[in-house]
Amino acid sequence: MGKNRSSSAAASKWRYCNPGYYLKRPKRLALLFIAFVGASFFIWDRQTLVREYEVEISQLSEEVNQLKSTLEELKSIHGDVFKSIDSRSSKPSKKVISEDPLDIQRREKVKDAMIHAWSSYEKYAWGHDELQPQSKNGVDSFGGLGATLIDALDTLYIMGLEEQFQRAREWVANTLDFNKDYDASVFETTIRVVGGLLSAYDLSGDKVFLEKAKDITDRLLPAWNTPSGIPYNTINLAHGNARNPGWTGGNSILADSGTEQLEFIALSERTGDPKYQRVVEKVVEVLNGTYPDDGLLPIYINPHSGTASYSTITFGAMGDSFYEYLLKVWVQGNRTSAVRGYREMWEKSMKGLFSLVRRSTPSSFLYICEKSGDMLTDKMDELACFAPGMLALGASGYGQTDSQKYLLLAEELAWTCYNFYQSTPTKLAGENYFFRSGQDMNVGTSWNILRPETIESLFYLWRLTGNKTYQEWGWNIFQAFEKNSRIETGYVGLKDVNTGVKDNMMQSFFLAETLKYLYLLFSPPSVISLDEWVFNTEAHPLRIMARHTGEISGRSEKRTIRIRGRKEGKFEG
Ligand SMILES: *[C@@H]1O[C@H](CO)[C@@H](O)[C@H](O)[C@H]1NC(C)=O
Ligand SMILES: *[C@@H]1O[C@H](CO)[C@@H](O)[C@H](O)[C@H]1NC(C)=O
Ligand SMILES: *[C@@H]1O[C@H](CO)[C@@H](O)[C@H](O)[C@H]1NC(C)=O
Repeated sequence: MGKNRSSSAAASKWRYCNPGYYLKRPKRLALLFIAFVGASFFIWDRQTLVREYEVEISQLSEEVNQLKSTLEELKSIHGDVFKSIDSRSSKPSKKVISEDPLDIQRREKVKDAMIHAWSSYEKYAWGHDELQPQSKNGVDSFGGLGATLIDALDTLYIMGLEEQFQRAREWVANTLDFNKDYDASVFETTIRVVGGLLSAYDLSGDKVFLEKAKDITDRLLPAWNTPSGIPYNTINLAHGNARNPGWTGGNSILADSGTEQLEFIALSERTGDPKYQRVVEKVVEVLNGTYPDDGLLPIYINPHSGTASYSTITFGAMGDSFYEYLLKVWVQGNRTSAVRGYREMWEKSMKGLFSLVRRSTPSSFLYICEKSGDMLTDKMDELACFAPGMLALGASGYGQTDSQKYLLLAEELAWTCYNFYQSTPTKLAGENYFFRSGQDMNVGTSWNILRPETIESLFYLWRLTGNKTYQEWGWNIFQAFEKNSRIETGYVGLKDVNTGVKDNMMQSFFLAETLKYLYLLFSPPSVISLDEWVFNTEAHPLRIMARHTGEISGRSEKRTIRIRGRKEGKFEG
């Protein structure tokens, strides 16, 4: 039965293939037709969809190619720095693509300025410390160490000026000679030459810079052989005899004695030899021994007793970078407990700074006074305009209330400093300002020597707040330099910011600091990230390396040297 049924069912299936079957049944024919049209429509629809996707995919890959070539262009505009620095940070390409075209344009203008300054130096003053652009010759203001050349190394590198960097590198390798019978300033030599060489080393990895940095620092080291450990401020580079300049009455200067910590600590870390770090940390320990509650030290320190001599307290000339380095040693050590003591000293000093702050009338500009004994003077140096940047850099280490308070202080001081520029006919700042009741600010010493401090602070404020106002202010200052200071053979200062009369000197810090901070002001924050680099007081970036209690760390574990007991080293991570 079963068999029969199935064979008859098969036979009945075949009848559907017979056209005659449908002719007799028109309804079934219509149904079949509809099914056929539906199926073909379905297949056609899928195919179109596939084609659409294919078009979309090819458009997307075209876009990817375009983005790739944009990135290549940006890289070539930006030079080597993206390859060498950006690749080490987290997500470079995204940031590059979303960049403001105005930033790129402005950065290029700053790079043009650097090319102009550098090629003038190459042409007229090669190997000398500084260029005198009007008389078109070089002068050796620092003993003939090629100060401008060394100061410019990292700026050239960051801007991707490879050929220029290579020529400078060859000069350092083959011609630079520190064996000079010259009484050099320990401070100037450290911040420009040691700092410049170490920065070039950190950026390029080229050992020749480290060897040279060690050579010059070994020549400076005998300056710390004093009864207190506070260094003498000048030393003969060939013979090693150290002394203080006559005009200080035998005293050492606070900033000159307390602005070698970053460079010497970095050198110890990179060579594995702790002797450099030891002498500069001793200085801070000695000063800490009699550190006042407000953290403010007078500018003269007796190198025999290690205590302060009666003199001015200031965040301007001869005081400034001592306070800056208390903060930056803490940043350089990556803010660990091992460097907490520096942060503590700095916080004390910032309380002291707060106590020196006053407001002008009628416009309520905030400014930092100087102090002698109990008397305040309503005078502020342009040099003290590094302070807003320092306050912004340090603000994040406070709790929320203090953090906001010090950031606000930074922003208000930056506004004052910007007005040092905006208030003169040339729109360039004088060297210092007096604040008199009812008159806001008046220029005191009226020269401008291409100083960087205000731009430095604008750079930090922009990086740390993201507020583009600071870029605008920086751009305005740059344009005033272009208008007043650029001449055919380089950049010069002004003898008087009221008249615009020019001087005859292109300061080496114009290439090291002013143009570098301007360039970075218009570069993505990943270029020399503040998480990875700390700038010395001459704007030379040094790599941050975490410090741990009881150690001086070298680049490798092998080089790690413990200067205290093992126990201490074990307890602190
Ligand atoms: C300075 O002295 C204070 C108080 O004695 C101490 O807490 C701090 O660690 C010291 N700082 C340095 C850098 O030695
Ligand atoms: C940006 O900075 C300027 C100057 O300090 C300030 O007036 C302005 O309110 C700031 N803008 C924002 C959005 O914080
Ligand atoms: C510094 O510390 C932060 C965390 O606090 C860490 O992410 C970073 O890798 C450290 N950097 C270095 C150079 O040790």
